[in-house]
Amino acid sequence: MRTVAIIPTAGSGERFGSAVPKPLVDLGGEPLVLRTLRVFEASSVVDGIILVVREDLKKGYEDLVARAGLRKVVACVAGGATRTVSVRRGLSAIGPEAEVVIVHDGVRPFVTGAMIAEGVALAKENGAAIAAVPLKPTVKLVDSVTGEVKGTLERARLFEVQTPQVFRRDVIEKAYALGLEATDDAALVEKAGGRVRVFPGSYRNIKITTPEDLLLAQAFLEG
Ligand code: C5P
Repeated sequence: MRTVAIIPTAGSGERFGSAVPKPLVDLGGEPLVLRTLRVFEASSVVDGIILVVREDLKKGYEDLVARAGLRKVVACVAGGATRTVSVRRGLSAIGPEAEVVIVHDGVRPFVTGAMIAEGVALAKENGAAIAAVPLKPTVKLVDSVTGEVKGTLERARLFEVQTPQVFRRDVIEKAYALGLEATDDAALVEKAGGRVRVFPGSYRNIKITTPEDLLLAQAFLEG
């Protein structure tokens, strides 16, 4: 089965607040998105990569990919106003031969080849598979108006979901055909009535969102 990875990087980076676009921020001597891309480039289960980028930075990303010698990147496509729109644009760029689609945030550089392989194997079997880790904190439901605690969720059943999220092509296309918005792709599959399974992500597989996350990422690199 041909497998394509869609890597969205077209966010505004508002919560990060730096002049340099977040995916291009230096992490241990190179732009952090390059670290993410290299893991997919090196994975034997990935045949092609579609990078979804901010429209105004397209040329810069194409040059970066060429300079880094990333041969699996088949296209840099312009993203949109929301993550869902960006992934949808990535989906419309995949060729007819792709049967499995991986979606992975460009700003999660600590994804591993093992995670990608496990997700792809499980998605082939099950239709949809997403990386997740057991939640560490206790989570309560709170009335946002009064501040009153309404309940405590059972932590043993709560997972923080991450990317990679992997889908059989028919499953993700059906989910996106609903035309809805969501903060992750699996939510759309759930809404379309599909079954989603989790596989182990990692506590290091963080999404770099705020400046604190970058400090943590630097600490991970230093071991
Ligand atoms: O916004 P969020 O933290 O969910 O972003 C996750 C990933 O999706 C990031 O890599 C970000 O660049 C990307 N994204 C995108 N287009 C948007 C918003 C987010 O490609 N409009």
